[in-house]
Amino acid sequence: MSKKKILIVFGTRPEAIKMCPVINELKRRKEFATIVAVTGQHREMLDQVLNAFSVIPDFDLAIMKESQSLFDITINVIEGIKDVIIKVVPDVVLVHGDTSTAFATALAAYYLQIPVGHVEAGLRTNNIYSPFPEEFNREAVSLITEFHFAPTKATKANLIKEGKLPKKVYVTGNTVIDALKTTVIDDYSHPDLEWAIKADEPDSNSRFVLFTAHRRENLGEPMKNMFRAVKRVLNEHRQVKLVYPVHLNPVIQEIAMREFGDCPNIRLIKPLDVLDFHNFMSRAYLILTDSGGVQEEAASLGKPVLVMRDTTERPEGIETGVLKLVGTEEKDIYREFGRLLTDPSIYKGMSSAENPYGDGQASVRIADILRDSLTK
Ligand code: UD1
Ligand code: UDP
Repeated sequence: MSKKKILIVFGTRPEAIKMCPVINELKRRKEFATIVAVTGQHREMLDQVLNAFSVIPDFDLAIMKESQSLFDITINVIEGIKDVIIKVVPDVVLVHGDTSTAFATALAAYYLQIPVGHVEAGLRTNNIYSPFPEEFNREAVSLITEFHFAPTKATKANLIKEGKLPKKVYVTGNTVIDALKTTVIDDYSHPDLEWAIKADEPDSNSRFVLFTAHRRENLGEPMKNMFRAVKRVLNEHRQVKLVYPVHLNPVIQEIAMREFGDCPNIRLIKPLDVLDFHNFMSRAYLILTDSGGVQEEAASLGKPVLVMRDTTERPEGIETGVLKLVGTEEKDIYREFGRLLTDPSIYKGMSSAENPYGDGQASVRIADILRDSLTK
């Protein structure tokens, strides 16, 4: 029997982190020919992940431009990936999540009448402007998808509510937990981590804060609000150290330098590679972020997270208590960050919550489902 061809397409850092475990699992199975195409929506931040997981793409569209618009990404992906799909003629195209790479690829596969498998399906805020444009992207991908790989029961329920057929929706867990199982190690050191942890004496390694912010809808005032709130708290708690690996978007680089540049207990650094970032997370006291993936990873590591967004598509972590949605107003972030640093009972409640996002076996389940469906 000829091997079933699976074309996996992604383009940004988080998609890569969550798809590399799937690629490595599919490549272990003799029934599949696994072909990897990257759009290069991200460049350095994508390459860091490919290197970390030793994945060498078969195709690279290399579309990234500085300060690219949504039009640039969508047009360039759809044109480039069309040729790849026509050349490969896959049995299924796998996309991930909610990026414009995922949306444009799914649309190209649909036009060419190739079935789509959607990893991390069913996340919803039901507000197409928040996160922007991710909520639209994932809803649109769901319309086209044949295999919905939902990470949790709640995400499966979202899809069923929208009328997707239950037999096409599978609960697999989130593949980010698969990745995390391979990256966090006991014996780890890094100069920026040493700076953050040593400076905490006598409280040893317990008060290092990790920070990330990058969302398109937060560029401008919301991001300035976040940075100002954080700076006020850090000015009041000089023993607490904060590390911010700044996203390579030039707009964010500029705001971060302007707002944070002169604060002695804040260190701005380049994006960390995934192995470093996961080990930083596992040693952080708490995390402030507007990221999607960081919410899931932190929940799995039992790290309290203040989510600096107005909506989240990851309510499971809010329900178990490890995540708290604090919005993007300066006063709210200032209040909640201060509280978490000064009230041990709030901290304890958040850090002892359960992980709702998976058991590290999501990639195996996805590969099993594809085997059972495609090779029958
Ligand atoms: C994209 C995704 C977002 C995801 C995020 C993860 C869309 C519309 N957005 O947003 O869903 O949460 O990735 O990080 O799909 N840049 C570099 N080098 C890199 C990466 C980015 O220089 O390796 C700079 C470029 O100037 C680029 C800009 O950052 O134009 C923005 O990148 P882009 O992919 O358009 O948006 P993100 O905000 O990263
Ligand atoms: N991450 C990383 N290095 C960093 C910051 C984040 O490897 O310096 C990883 C993090 O572990 C998570 C992913 O990037 O898996 C999240 O990406 P991002 O926040 O850019 O996107 P989102 O998840 O919001 O789409």
